[in-house]
Amino acid sequence: MKLLSCGTGILFLLLSGLAVAGERPADIPEGMGVLPTTVPIPADNPMSKPKTELGKQLYFDPALSKSGHISCNSCHNLGTWGVDNQARSIGHKWQRGGRNAPTSFNSGFWSAQFWDGRAPQLEDQAKGPPMNPVEMADDSEEELMSRLKEAGYAPLFDKVFGKNSLSFDNMAKAIAAFERTLLTPDAPFDLYVQGKGNISTAAKRGMKKVAEIGCTSCHSGPLFTNNTYQQFLYGTDDGRKSVTGKAEDDHFFRVQSWRNVAMTAPYFHDGSVKTLSEAVRIMAKVQLDTKLSDSDVADIVAFLKTLTGKAPQVIYPVFPRPAGYALNWK
Ligand code: HEC
Ligand code: HEC
Repeated sequence: MKLLSCGTGILFLLLSGLAVAGERPADIPEGMGVLPTTVPIPADNPMSKPKTELGKQLYFDPALSKSGHISCNSCHNLGTWGVDNQARSIGHKWQRGGRNAPTSFNSGFWSAQFWDGRAPQLEDQAKGPPMNPVEMADDSEEELMSRLKEAGYAPLFDKVFGKNSLSFDNMAKAIAAFERTLLTPDAPFDLYVQGKGNISTAAKRGMKKVAEIGCTSCHSGPLFTNNTYQQFLYGTDDGRKSVTGKAEDDHFFRVQSWRNVAMTAPYFHDGSVKTLSEAVRIMAKVQLDTKLSDSDVADIVAFLKTLTGKAPQVIYPVFPRPAGYALNWK
C-alpha cells in the first residue's frame, strides 16, 4: 500500500511536469536547451588570459574615442546587460546613431555581427565603432594607435602578441577575445532543463505557446535564434539590403536571440518598441499573422523572462596611462 502511493506520487510528479533532479522535464519542446558554455574560437585568435585582460581594458577605455569620453561600455554597458537601454545610442557630440545597440553578451555565438550581419566576426565588428563618426569618431587608425601608444598600451600588446604588436588588428583581436567571455549561463530556464530548478506555470504555458505557433521556427535551439536572416517588414530600415545591395535582402535582419531579452529594452533594430509585451505582439502579427490574446502575451513574456541568465562578473580594469600625467584631450 505504502509502495503503491509512493509510485502514484512519482507518476503524478512526472505527469504534472515538475522537475525531477538531474532529468530533462518531458514538457520542454524539442530543440530548446541549455546555453552552451563555450563559443566558437577562430583559429587565428586563440584565447588566453592576458589577451582577454587586455581586451577588457580596451573595452572599457574611453581612450578609444576622439573625445576621450566614449568607450565600448558606454553603449554596451556590462552593468546593464551589455546594452544602453536607449532607442538609439548616444555617441560623439551627443549624436544619435541609426540603430538600437544589441547586447555584447553572448555575441560570440552569432553567425555574424550587427542587425544586418555586415561584420562576419567579432574581430571585424570591433574595428567599426572607433572609426564611426557618430560613435567614437576617431580621425584615423593611425591617430587612434598613437593615442593608445601615448596611453602606455605598447608593452601590454607586446606581452600578448609579441614585439611591436600595437596595431588596429590586434586591438580588435583582444576586444573580440574578451567579448567571447561574456556569457550568461544558469538562466532559470537552463536550470529547469537540467532538472535543477523550476519555472512558473505561466512560463511553461508560454514555452509551449512559442513552439506551437511557430516563433521557434526562427528563434530556435538553445540560443533561441537560428542565426539566419529573415525578413521583418517593419519600419523603414533596409536591413541586409544595405549590405548586399540585393533587392531580395530588403528588410532582412539577423534573428535576434531571446537570451536576456527581458533586460535589453527597447526592442527591434530601431529601438521603437518600449516593452517586451508589445514586441511579442508585433512579432506574432508581422511574422506569423497571428493576433495573440493578452494572456498568451503575458505567458510568452513570463517565459522570455526565464531566459535571463547570470551576468558575467567583471572587475573594472585600471587603464595604462603615462606616468605622472593624464592623457590630454583637446
Ligand atoms: C555610440 C554607441 C556605441 C559604441 C561606442 C559602440 N557600439 Fe557596438 N553597437 C552599437 C550599435 C548601435 C550597434 C548596432 C549597429 C548596427 O547593427 O548597425 C552595435 C553593434 C555591436 C555588436 C553586434 C552585436 C550583434 O548582436 O550583432 C557588437 C558585438 C558590438 N557593437 C561591440 C562593440 C564594441 C566592442 C565596441 C567598442 C570598440 C562598441 N560596440 C562600441 C553602439 C555602439
Ligand atoms: C520568420 C522569423 C521569425 C519568427 C517566426 C519570429 N521572429 Fe522574432 N525576430 C525575428 C527577427 C528577424 C528579429 C529581429 C527584428 C529586428 O530587426 O528588429 C526578431 C526579433 C524579436 C524580438 C526582439 C528582440 C530584440 O532584441 O529587439 C522579440 C522579443 C521576438 N523576436 C519575439 C518573437 C516571438 C515571441 C515570436 C512568435 C510570436 C517571434 N519572435 C517570431 C524573426 C522571427
